Amino acid sequence: MTLDVSRKPIKIKGQTMSERPYVIDKMISAKAIAARIEELCREIETAFKGTDKLVVVGLLRGSFVFIADLVRELDLPIEVDFLEASSYGDGMESSREVRILKDLRGAIEGRDVLVVEDIVDTGHTMHHVTRLLKGRKPAHLRTIALLDKFARREVDFKADWTGFDIPDEFVVGYGIDFAQRNRNLPFIGKVRFT
Ligand code: IMP
Ligand code: MG
Repeated sequence: MTLDVSRKPIKIKGQTMSERPYVIDKMISAKAIAARIEELCREIETAFKGTDKLVVVGLLRGSFVFIADLVRELDLPIEVDFLEASSYGDGMESSREVRILKDLRGAIEGRDVLVVEDIVDTGHTMHHVTRLLKGRKPAHLRTIALLDKFARREVDFKADWTGFDIPDEFVVGYGIDFAQRNRNLPFIGKVRFT
């Protein structure tokens, strides 16, 4: 399935790509994502068995759809919190400099924490965020990423759970954006310029 998507200026590597049209080729279906989330949740339930209350931390904004599906499938007592870190501007290239734009509302000292990310790409974001949160002395801190583009890794980071390993393609949908667009697609697709 291919979608025709229109157009608003896009910045890539500092250049504005005015009105450059692209299509989205389906890569991972909504059904495949749901099935994988079920599998992952069984593993997470085992890993956190007996937890008092797991703090599920979503990295905004890309993880908002994933975390919504994940927590509804998880049979564990949970709380949800959010953190916003930024490494991308409005384009396709990571700035590599991670800033915390919005911190957690709650303390995590002594708590069981699961950090939920949409994609691990260069690894800078999760490397930085996990170091920051470990400094707050959680009892356990584990990580899950829906997607992993291992070929692009620049710093050492591997999530405890990964939904899908994907090749080096720019993807959108299921919460993930291209210049803030296409987050509401129910599947994961790759961007192809036409
Ligand atoms: P990293 O710091 O390079 O690992 O980048 C992680 C962040 O970059 C992710 O949370 C995404 O928000 C964003 N990102 C990486 N790859 C893509 C992509 O293919 N599409 C959209 N956003 C992406
Ligand atoms: Mg992100």
